[in-house]
Amino acid sequence: MSAFDTLLPRPVRVEPSPGECLLADPAAAPVRLDPALQAEGYRLEIEPAGVLIVAADEAGACHARQTLRQLCGPAAFRAARIHDGPWRLPCGTVTDQPRLGWRGCLLDVARHFRTKAEVLRFVDLLAAHKLNVLHLHLTDDQGWRIQIDRYPRLTEVGGWRTGSMVGRHDGPETDGRPHGGFYPAADLAEIVGYAGDRGIRVVPEIDMPGHVRAALAAYPELGVHPDRSLEVWTSWGVSEDVLNAEESTVDFFRNVLDEVLEIFPSPVIGIGGDEVPVTQWENDPRSRARAAELGLASPGDLHGWFLGRMADHLRERGRRALGWDEVLDAGTDPGTGTVVGSWRGEEAGLRAAAAGHDVVMCPEQWVYLDHRQSAHPDEPIPVGFLRSLEDVYRYRPCPDGMPAERLLGAQAQVWTEHLDTARRVDYAAFPRLAAFAEVVWSGGGDFTEFLPRLREHHLPRLDALGVEYRPLSGPLPWQTRPGVPGRPRDLTMADHQHSTG
Ligand code: ACM
Repeated sequence: MSAFDTLLPRPVRVEPSPGECLLADPAAAPVRLDPALQAEGYRLEIEPAGVLIVAADEAGACHARQTLRQLCGPAAFRAARIHDGPWRLPCGTVTDQPRLGWRGCLLDVARHFRTKAEVLRFVDLLAAHKLNVLHLHLTDDQGWRIQIDRYPRLTEVGGWRTGSMVGRHDGPETDGRPHGGFYPAADLAEIVGYAGDRGIRVVPEIDMPGHVRAALAAYPELGVHPDRSLEVWTSWGVSEDVLNAEESTVDFFRNVLDEVLEIFPSPVIGIGGDEVPVTQWENDPRSRARAAELGLASPGDLHGWFLGRMADHLRERGRRALGWDEVLDAGTDPGTGTVVGSWRGEEAGLRAAAAGHDVVMCPEQWVYLDHRQSAHPDEPIPVGFLRSLEDVYRYRPCPDGMPAERLLGAQAQVWTEHLDTARRVDYAAFPRLAAFAEVVWSGGGDFTEFLPRLREHHLPRLDALGVEYRPLSGPLPWQTRPGVPGRPRDLTMADHQHSTG
């Protein structure tokens, strides 16, 4: 077996040749750009005399360097060199390119703030797996994490909360431990630059018109009930509190987006749109009158109307909105250019594509990595569907009937209601994110071939990187959370039948 057989994600083609290359510094391998290659594609030529990277673009060169690093062995994943002498590589040519152009991972920094250093480390881990989109979920009911110069209270007030629910208990009590944090623009610009240097685009998300309790705590006038004083939410779930539909509120969020656009060059900007209860609008005379004035059939249509205003604003500035699949039910017009994130299943993605939207597949039945990894009684805070490493590896992002030209790609999600530290994020994300990375890069394969490659070759790389992944045998004692309740859900038969192809 050669080092080429250890690669993860598996490359498209390997042609071994005789001999060995002794390489002093893999990072110094020369790069020649060849725009004839597919975007992000590369060829890695290893000969006794040295290494050459031929890459379609800078991203392709980044991926080639990651392949080279894997060929050097796990020690190449350490922060410093711990041996003398050159790296020893087998000779041959690796020709490689990704199946999907959007290979993403969402990191929820709203529920639990992750420091800048932790986000940068997460970027490194995405790069090591040839993932190319970091979707940063920056705002939610439980926290507002991006400093906005024009509206300082968003982070002064909205960036902090007085406590958090412990697991998924049903009562009102919290742990009483205040916490929070936020990123100044300079920190986010640094994250964007760092990610860009590694072939990763950062897609920010400002969630609206629901999931806005943190914003309402800071600026109550944005809400349907401005007279109600709300605190940054200390519970999990779907809050009934939504934005009002006044022109001043539209202006507020357009101004927020303008500051977001200054920091994030991404052509796609997340505007949320998920889990928006319409009860407050329906019960509020001012909202009912506003809906009528706008010619909407019902107050619930304010959901789609508000998102449409935001999507138009982005389009006028040369960007596109990304919304969760509720935007379809809210009547979002494909003409707005809105990309749909299909999270409630695969059906929404198919519907979105049929309606003319571009789609990113992120179905919670398959790729929500906060969901429990096993039915083991020691699994910490077991929430959501049971999704093992094998389940994630079996995921196929292009369901029957999906027009390939509408499928931008797929994205795994790391929501952090129950992941309060970077160590907990490591546990939830890995090694399942490695399985996901192979699915989106090379299309996946046979799990019985993947598993030993992961166990014997890739986990040692994660060990060298210091990733506290979930061991294949189950959680280590300090990774458990005895007595902290979760809320498991069961998959339906229909869920089981999807994505097994
Ligand atoms: C979501 O999980 N609410 C997008």
